[in-house]
Parts: sequence; C-alpha cells; structure tokens
Amino acid sequence: MIIVNSATIMDELDKKGAIYSDRPVLEMGGELVGYSQTLVLIAYGARFRTYRKHFSRYLGSPKPIQQLYPLVERESRRFLKRTLANHQDVLPHLRKLAGGIILRLTYGYEVQDGEDPFVNLIEHANDNFNAATVPGAFPVDFFPAMKKLPQWLPGMGFMKLAAEWAKDTARMVEVPYNYTKQQMAAGTAVPSFVSTSLEDESSLSADDIRDLRFAASSMYGGGADTTVSAEYAFYLAMVLYPEVQKKAQAELDAVVGNGRLPNFNDQPQLPYINAIVTEVLRWNSVAPTGVPHTAIEDGFVAGYFVPKGSLILANLWNMLHNPDVYPDPFTFDPERHIASPGKEAQQDPRKICFGYGRRICPGMHLAEASLYSCVSMSLAVFDIEKAVENGVPITPVHENTSGIISYPKPFKCVIKPRSEKAVSLIAEELL
Ligand code: HEM
Repeated sequence: MIIVNSATIMDELDKKGAIYSDRPVLEMGGELVGYSQTLVLIAYGARFRTYRKHFSRYLGSPKPIQQLYPLVERESRRFLKRTLANHQDVLPHLRKLAGGIILRLTYGYEVQDGEDPFVNLIEHANDNFNAATVPGAFPVDFFPAMKKLPQWLPGMGFMKLAAEWAKDTARMVEVPYNYTKQQMAAGTAVPSFVSTSLEDESSLSADDIRDLRFAASSMYGGGADTTVSAEYAFYLAMVLYPEVQKKAQAELDAVVGNGRLPNFNDQPQLPYINAIVTEVLRWNSVAPTGVPHTAIEDGFVAGYFVPKGSLILANLWNMLHNPDVYPDPFTFDPERHIASPGKEAQQDPRKICFGYGRRICPGMHLAEASLYSCVSMSLAVFDIEKAVENGVPITPVHENTSGIISYPKPFKCVIKPRSEKAVSLIAEELL
C-alpha cells in the first residue's frame, strides 16, 4: 500500500493515468452487494470507458453544465424556501437540494417535499454500501474464498445480508430508470440524462442499456453525499467566521443588490464568493484519502518502484492542509485564494480535492456549480449565526466523521432571513 502525501507526486500519477487508474476489488461492498458495477468501483476497461463517456457527454465540460444552470438555480431556490420554513437543521434540506439536482438531471424526476420515495430508496442502498465497506467489518474482504463455503457454516451470515443488500442495489438501479421509461412511453418525460440517451434506443444493445442504467445510478452515488458534505461545511464555516460572512454579503450587496437573487451570470463579478467556494473545498476534505487506485502494471513513480497490484491512497486531506502551501491551514480564510498566485496557483485545491488520473471526479464541474449556487444564494438572503442556549452562544467545533466520504459532525446554528426583502425574494414564485 502506498500513501501519497505530495501534490507533485499525485500530478505524476495523473500523467501516468493509464497505469494507475484501476480500483481494488471489494468483496463485500463491490462483488456481493453489487457496487462493483457502478462507476466508482468498476474495473478499468471497456465498461469503465463507456461509463466515463456517458458522464463526460452530460457533465464533462462547462458547456453541458451551463445547460444545467437553470435546474441548479431552481433547486437552490426551493432549498431557500424549505430552509426558511424549517430552519432548525439545514442538513436534511441540503440532502434534498443535492438529491433534487441529481435526480432531475439524471432521470427527469422532481423530488417531493417531505419524505421522497426515490431519495429514500437510493440513500438506503448507499447506507448499505457504506456499512459493507467499513474496513475490517467483513472477513470475506480478506479471505475471498469464504464466499464459496457452504452457507450453513458458522460465520457465513454475511452471505444472507449480502443477498438482501444486493436486492436494494438492484432496486436503486432499476426503479428510477423505469420511472423515466414510463414517462417517455406516456410522452411526459422531461429531458434528462436517461431520456436523451434513450432517444435512439433501437440502436442500443442489451449491454449498452445495462451500462446506461449503471452509469445513471452512479451519478447519485458519487454526487449526493459529497456535495452535501461540502455545503454543510460551508454553513459551519459561516457560523465560525462571521467576518467572512459579512464580507461576502457586502460583495453580494454591491454587485447584485437586494432586488433579486444572485445567479450564474454574476459569478465572474464575485471573486470573494468564488474564493469561499475554493476554501470550502480545501478546509473540509470531502474525500480525505480519495478513493483507492491500483497499479495495472509494474512502474516507477518519483523514482520508487511501484509493483503491479499496489494499492495507492492519495492523502488529499494532507495535501489540502499542507502548511507550506496554505499557512495556518485549519483557519478558514478565503483571502488566501485571492492574494498571491504563488505556490497555491500550482496546487489549486479545486484540482486536488477531486482526485486524479482517469478516475478524476467526473462530477466536479457540477459540484462547483452547485456549491457556488448554494453559497451565493444562502448568503444573499440568510444570516447564519451561532445557536444560543440559556443565553450562551454555542461555538461549534470543526470535527469530521470518518469514512471514504467525510462530513462535518452535526452542529447547531441559527439561520435568519437578512431582511423583509430577503423573505419576499425567497417567497417569489418559481418559474
Ligand atoms: C464537493 C463535491 C465532490 C467532491 C469533493 C468529489 C470528489 C471525488 C473524488 C476525490 C473522487 C475519487 C477520484 C479518484 O479516484 O482519484 C471522486 C470520484 C467520483 N465522483 Fe466525485 N466529488 C464530488 C462531487 C461529485 C458529483 C456532483 C458527482 C456526480 C454527479 C460525482 C461523481 C463521482 C463519480 C461517479 C466518481 C467515481 C469516478 C471513477 O471511479 O471513475 N462527484 N469524486
């Protein structure tokens, strides 16, 4: 196992992406529960390339992302409404925001207020996956031959659990896909990744359709928790750094005014808001050790011999908190991305936090757009402050959960509309 702590070495791995872009085999979460067919775990090869082409066509560059701006803005406005109506805990609203954007763009499905059956179905399957991949939880990960043993033997209960979880995985893939098919048959489908990919369905083979279904389901798996973690960290940063919040609001007031909400056209004129987005991605490492890669063949990296099959972990957290590049790395300071284009320009957090090589995050442009929209709209209309208990303001601590995807631990805050005008902007009808 190789742990990479340096952005320069990650850059070398990036350039040698054809060798360092496979994934390890995960027996429980991948092979038995079925996630090895989704993009994040699929082996490097023909199916992997097909999935990536699907992602790249729909999310891979600024142009297709710009077509999604109206959808991102609309869902962000729904988020403001929900948060204003129920401001005790922002986390469920952020989940619905990220889930709403992804389900709409992938399947043309609009999430419902309150409990949503699709969000529940997918999150249930993803919870199974997280439980299945807790390191050391399932001995079959270390002794793959166990899965061939008779199931009545002691210690084989994991096979029954795996079969149940595999059914949930299949439902996660099939149910939303079938929804789009039904909408298309009824002539009511709104354009989405699945509906546009199926426009010429007669020319697709059974394998093409299988790959399309799995590529679609990989969007939620890769995009929901990650975006939520970043946006939750943004809310935490605003509670902890009120002076940053005030400065961002002053920029929004000067550039956008208070007669409308900010939108994507404003983005080039909002350097401080953009710096907040970058600093959120640096300060709170969403995927602290990335997703493991494996070496497809023997090779040399930074002068070291790396044998075929080596497991490579990129310590993104360490790179994003390197004090030589980001002095005082645990402080949330957007200025560092505006001030000097020194070492930081070479080690842009927006480049590091999304991984590397042929596995680099295929949703990064969407992630940045979603985060910008959430940050700018939230700051335009809300003050985000410390909660007060028995007259004492509570200062949250920035601690993270462990796991491949890491969240700030739950914290309390108060979210208030900035003015009557802000309330009326939030209340405006969605077009
Ligand atoms: C703040 C938000 C996000 C962060 C920090 C993030 C970060 C990452 C990282 C570090 C990886 C692993 C890259 C590697 O193996 O080197 C990854 C992979 C992936 N991400 Fe993201 N991501 C985010 C949002 C999204 C979104 C919005 C989507 C989809 C709509 C997405 C879909 C995926 C998928 C499918 C993979 C697996 C790619 C593969 O194995 O080829 N991510 N992401």
